[in-house]
Amino acid sequence: MKLKRTHTCGELTLSEVGKMVVVSGWVDNWRDHGGVFFIDLRDRYGKIQVVFSPEKGDLYEKSKKLRSEFVVSVRGKVQKRPEEAINPELPTGEIEIYAEELEVHNTSKTPPFELKDYVDVSEDLRLKYRYLDLRRTKLQKTLILRHQVAQLTRQFFSGENFLEIETPFLTKSTPEGARDFLVPSRLHPGKFYALPQSPQTYKQILMVSGFDRYFQIVKCFRDEDLRKDRQPEFTQIDVEMSFVEEEDVMNIVEKFMKFLFKEALNIELKTPFPRLTYQESLDRFGTDKPDTRFGLELREVTSIFKNTDFKIFKSVVEAGGYIGTLVVPEAVGYSRKELDELNKWLISMGAGGLAHIKFTNNTFEGGISKFLSGHEGEALKKELGLTQDAMIFVVADKRKEFAQTMLGFLRNHLGEKLNLIPGDVHHLHWTTEFPLLEFSEEENRYVARHHPFTSVKEEDMHLIDSEPHKVRARAYDLIYNGNEIAGGSIRIHKREMQEKVFQLLKMTPEEAREKFGFLMDAFEYGAPPHGGIAFGFDRLVMLLAKAASIRDVIAFPKTASAVGLMEQTPSEVDETQLKELHLKILKE
Ligand code: AMO
Repeated sequence: MKLKRTHTCGELTLSEVGKMVVVSGWVDNWRDHGGVFFIDLRDRYGKIQVVFSPEKGDLYEKSKKLRSEFVVSVRGKVQKRPEEAINPELPTGEIEIYAEELEVHNTSKTPPFELKDYVDVSEDLRLKYRYLDLRRTKLQKTLILRHQVAQLTRQFFSGENFLEIETPFLTKSTPEGARDFLVPSRLHPGKFYALPQSPQTYKQILMVSGFDRYFQIVKCFRDEDLRKDRQPEFTQIDVEMSFVEEEDVMNIVEKFMKFLFKEALNIELKTPFPRLTYQESLDRFGTDKPDTRFGLELREVTSIFKNTDFKIFKSVVEAGGYIGTLVVPEAVGYSRKELDELNKWLISMGAGGLAHIKFTNNTFEGGISKFLSGHEGEALKKELGLTQDAMIFVVADKRKEFAQTMLGFLRNHLGEKLNLIPGDVHHLHWTTEFPLLEFSEEENRYVARHHPFTSVKEEDMHLIDSEPHKVRARAYDLIYNGNEIAGGSIRIHKREMQEKVFQLLKMTPEEAREKFGFLMDAFEYGAPPHGGIAFGFDRLVMLLAKAASIRDVIAFPKTASAVGLMEQTPSEVDETQLKELHLKILKE
């Protein structure tokens, strides 16, 4: 390398005019203006225009061979651009470099897509050529924001007396509700490590050891179905504290959020954040992570149809189900086709169907209106406060997982479609009082709603044997504009209670001992009361960066089918490796 960089492409201004400088970077674009050759040189700090003049003979001829994405260094003098050539869009738009020397470090093939911020190519192609994709300003800005959020996180927690302590990746299964990624042991034939779904048990052990306040920015691994906000390996900001109750954890988290939003985005958040119980959240919004930026709340009308003749509603009511509505101003107008599509879409999400009734000129028409008795119509008007034309969507089914959840999906869908969601507002709130357990039809047993280390609300303890499904957990989730960005709980810190919960989850004592004996043993040596929380770090950055997908805030993400397209992973390994690991692949 002959030319040594003196300045980055983003930092030069009018005050450097007249100075000799060396800049290095990639050719962002080139223009041959018959007589003068221009390039924009780009690095992660910005772009600057370089001029090659024919007066420079060989240098000019050499410059004309430059093409997009060549890597070069240029030595030259900073000069003011002529008035008509000033580019107000660019921080360096008032100046340019008059080239005296050019060093071409490397050429480049024509990239498979343009490195513009809005590229119209498949994400797969972008991921395959991620090194090019990552040169785009937008992704560079996002990763810079990610870095800032990580630094601010360390600054905040360290300032609050938290210690950053690493925990192992080669570990034992920790149940967070997903499948484990397993790592076969070479030294111990037939045995496996599990990659941690979270550092949950380790951070609890650290509390037993007296570290009192712990945090870690840490990778977690979960083999689960991926969505736009999930990755098989993702990062958490993991936090645990001793001698605390819910309020203490929530307070520190609110302080952290306030700090982060202010420092990273200059946004003032108001604390404390509002709280909704799980039940209220489902009843009003049909989800435990509602987008509270808009109204359009669910309204239950089950009691109106107590004695209905309408067969579908009748059977739902008799089975102890739920009938709920969403009322949308009729101004919007729905064609039959749109209603059909909406119905089909909701069925594809798991609903039995979506019914509708139009309310026009003070009467009900269309949809299921013909099944309404006069009395039911009057009651509906009153209950829903109908005064103006409206479209009423109705779902009748089992309460929680079905009817309310489906109305919750529909609410989000309509929120977007009808433009009800204001831009640039930041709603953070807590969901609290989750049920401790959830019944899994698939496994025909209760599973932990959060994880099995979550403690029980004192006032519900008496229900634990008789009505375990009614027991509420000391758990809380933090929701940001309808996304779950963090979840945590106050933990169990006594052996007997932990055994009790394992038993509720239908774990045999042997199984519990085999899997979590170390934690229960630790509880017998002076475990302090403790609790904590973990943030989805990628998810948080995704929302702060207003990125469309979690993949846009991770340098090297996996596709929705968990494939690394650039490096081609997962891949086959050779026989020797398999043999060393005592593994044989079964051909299906
Ligand atoms: P939980 O399982 O709720 O809690 O995870 C905490 C947060 O991590 C994020 N998250 C994910 N982000 C990206 N991809 C995924 N596959 C993924 N899964 C989860 C979510 C979620 O809110 N040990 C407990 C925390 C605790 O109790 O302290 C835990 O891991 O934003």
